[in-house]
Amino acid sequence: MKVNGTPTRTIWLAADGWAVEIIDQTKLPHDFAITRLESMADAARAIKDMLVRGAPLIGATAAYGMALAMRADASDGNLQAAHDALYATRPTAVNLRWALAAMMEALRPLPPAQRAEAAYARAAALCDEDVEINYAIGTHGLHIFRQVWQKKPQGERLNVLTHCNAGWLATVDWGTALAPIYRFFDEGLPIHVWVDETRPRNQGASLTAWELNQHGVPHTVIPDNVGGHLMQHGMVDLCIVGTDRTTASGDVCNKIGTYLKALAAHDNGVPFHVALPSPTIDWTIDDGVRDIPIEERSAEEVTRMTGRTDDGRIETVTITPEGSPAGNWGFDVTPAKYVTGLITERGACPATKAGLKALFPENA
Ligand code: MRU
Repeated sequence: MKVNGTPTRTIWLAADGWAVEIIDQTKLPHDFAITRLESMADAARAIKDMLVRGAPLIGATAAYGMALAMRADASDGNLQAAHDALYATRPTAVNLRWALAAMMEALRPLPPAQRAEAAYARAAALCDEDVEINYAIGTHGLHIFRQVWQKKPQGERLNVLTHCNAGWLATVDWGTALAPIYRFFDEGLPIHVWVDETRPRNQGASLTAWELNQHGVPHTVIPDNVGGHLMQHGMVDLCIVGTDRTTASGDVCNKIGTYLKALAAHDNGVPFHVALPSPTIDWTIDDGVRDIPIEERSAEEVTRMTGRTDDGRIETVTITPEGSPAGNWGFDVTPAKYVTGLITERGACPATKAGLKALFPENA
């Protein structure tokens, strides 16, 4: 996607050919800052502190973290240590496990002297695959968007609601849930996006709004509790979100609050779609509520907020009374029965075991 008109990915090799550069997403939307990762520990910190976030980008960063580790010390011991350190960064997005497994599979059989070069090549290939996958999700999603739009009175815009950031910033390029939005917009078709602010870290207000703005897509940021009201009044034609882990039977784990949007969509007959690259499917589990580990983060993310003052300073303020505890669960699970359809790189399917099995017979 373009940043100030320049095509940009979210992760790339620095000009020196070995360090890795990322966009520091904790600084957006106020500052577009690039951060250099020089070690496995830098990559792990970038994931844990959410300089990079979003399931596919977490996987891509971990892959490059393995390459940085192999450049420093390609022994068997460090291979396993790097895997374990990166694996421990965030618990919910299964792409992390998937990317690390792909790296281990490529590197373990090699003699240490060949591992660094092979690791960089595999990490680059994973990134390119992510871009291809997301472009294909965009193609399949575009078809669904067109179908919904064609049922509207002629000339009306398509109103789409999304939660969190499942856009370009959450992947290497294109995004998952936002890929069909970009494709619909690029076709010159009329679209408007309701952007859930996504408390407590505000990925919608800070990141989705920023990237839609960069691309020129009409949008409106709304507090998280507005969506149900909009759906009751016919102001949402479809919802589309990403996912951090989808079970083999189609339960969808995504940013906290997704479940409530799915319930509201169900109650109002609004289609609720989930866009997912296949590395986000966890084929080892069926019951998302029971089996998906839900990340719990610092209470400070709830009790404090950061923003820009009118005179341009970035400040953090406390919004709760001193002494009030806060709870911060990062994700929730939307049971498959509330999901209208899954949009993958191989096409769309019902959120069922049979639906996923038909698209991915080799995994099921
Ligand atoms: O905590 P985050 O910002 O990493 O959460 C991201 C999400 O929940 C996204 O919706 C999900 O990773 C899908 S991204 C294509």
